[in-house]
Amino acid sequence: MTAHKPAVAGVEGAGVLTERGPGPVRVELVVNRAERAVDIEPRVSLLQALREECGLTGAKRGCDQGTCGACTVWVDGQRVLSCLTLAIACEGREVATVEGLTDETGTGPHPVQAAFVRHDAFQCGYCTPGQLMSAVALLEEGHAHDDAEIGEWMSGNLCRCAAYPNIRAAIREVRDRRRTRA
Ligand code: FES
Ligand code: FES
Repeated sequence: MTAHKPAVAGVEGAGVLTERGPGPVRVELVVNRAERAVDIEPRVSLLQALREECGLTGAKRGCDQGTCGACTVWVDGQRVLSCLTLAIACEGREVATVEGLTDETGTGPHPVQAAFVRHDAFQCGYCTPGQLMSAVALLEEGHAHDDAEIGEWMSGNLCRCAAYPNIRAAIREVRDRRRTRA
């Protein structure tokens, strides 16, 4: 089985580092549709900028080396590992975190969040923000046809509490509801 991990954004951002030189630089981010300006060193990861500069602690630091998926966020609608993504490389791009997930009205929890609660799809909850960002994305991507596919496309998000069956059940529920509505 191929492991489908969220991507690493911003390799092209490496060029920006040499242009701006060392030391703190002003980086203009758009996070959950709100503009945020942060003064950070170019080496700062998106995860660090979100948690320590923006006060958005939903994305979690698990391994900090790209293996657990706890830090998963979206950049321009694509899943990325924010621990391996430079914040400076996200300038001018749309960053979305678990704090920005809502229902269609923008006032309640996203249907996948509600399904996670109904299916008890977490225990300690540490991996849950990353699981949610991947689960919503894979439903949008159309990678939830069966359990095998769900498991494959969620394989970059590890859960030490082994809530995998419940996570899959929550994803199935949302998928089936969408099928019924279509
Ligand atoms: Fe980023 Fe583990 S903290 S993959
Ligand atoms: Fe504890 Fe996933 S719910 S690590």
